[in-house]
Amino acid sequence: MTDRSPISEEHIAANRVLWNAWTKVHERSEFYDLEGFKRGGVRLREYEIEEIGPVVGKTLLHLQCHFGIDSLSWARLGAQVTGVDFSSEAVALARSLAAELGLDARFVESDLYDLRNRLEGEFDVVYTSRGVLGWLPDIRGWAEVAAHFVRPGGIFYVTEVHPVWEAFEYDGVEPGKMWLRYPYWESGEPFAMKVVGSYADRSADVGDLTEYGWNHSLGEIVTSLIDAGLRIEFLHEFPFLEWPADALVEGDDGRFRLPGELDGKLPLLYSLKASKPT
Ligand SMILES: C[S@@+](CC[C@H](N)C(=O)[O-])C[C@H]1O[C@@H](n2cnc3c(N)ncnc32)[C@H](O)[C@@H]1O
Repeated sequence: MTDRSPISEEHIAANRVLWNAWTKVHERSEFYDLEGFKRGGVRLREYEIEEIGPVVGKTLLHLQCHFGIDSLSWARLGAQVTGVDFSSEAVALARSLAAELGLDARFVESDLYDLRNRLEGEFDVVYTSRGVLGWLPDIRGWAEVAAHFVRPGGIFYVTEVHPVWEAFEYDGVEPGKMWLRYPYWESGEPFAMKVVGSYADRSADVGDLTEYGWNHSLGEIVTSLIDAGLRIEFLHEFPFLEWPADALVEGDDGRFRLPGELDGKLPLLYSLKASKPT
């Protein structure tokens, strides 16, 4: 079990309060379009469905699943899903959605770092995506938890904002005017930011809250997964995001990129697939 400082515990507790508040906002947001999701379809991205491959009949563990809309998308594609999140509000909403939609999914409320004490078993696929690693103080501890739940011969998959992009301040700026603000490497102390609304609804009132975040370099992420016993199959880097940021502009394909001649010059997103040797 990873040793984390009591300071991290305090920050994680504050982030849990924030995610409980955000879940109530997200449930009603256009960004997540829950009513549309209830009518059908999957909310996953084409590239991840293709890169993970068929999941019919496979067991899939979704780490940091929020209120389960992506987890339930995997269930609609045929996976037997277990979702995990530390937000009680998110897990309660995920459970009620699974029941309402009659989908094969269960949800566990747990801090990522406590999961080995709360969940048994190994999974064909361990999956995590979009906006997850920045909430975690210790990337090596994360990799150990993720690898623990992959069955021998199974896969681990993460798609996430690229850590090079996370070193920049990209909100509250003109397109292309992001500036280098945060440490690229993991650096113990979190950066703290006053919360204004939510990424899904900037006008939402969530009260006086602070969010705490940590960056982790690509090298730290990859090396932690290797040290935890996984074999990297590929690491793909993409010059776009699939949600807005002030420094980016939306293209005709609905993806968000750096403007003009900056387009393609920095990685904004990545996907990584690893396997556990048999
Ligand atoms: C941006 S969401 C990711 C899910 C998905 N990409 C989405 O957009 O719905 C991040 C999730 O991480 C969860 N989370 C943050 N820190 C956590 C921790 N220490 N343990 C477990 N879950 C955590 C939050 O509750 C939140 O639901």
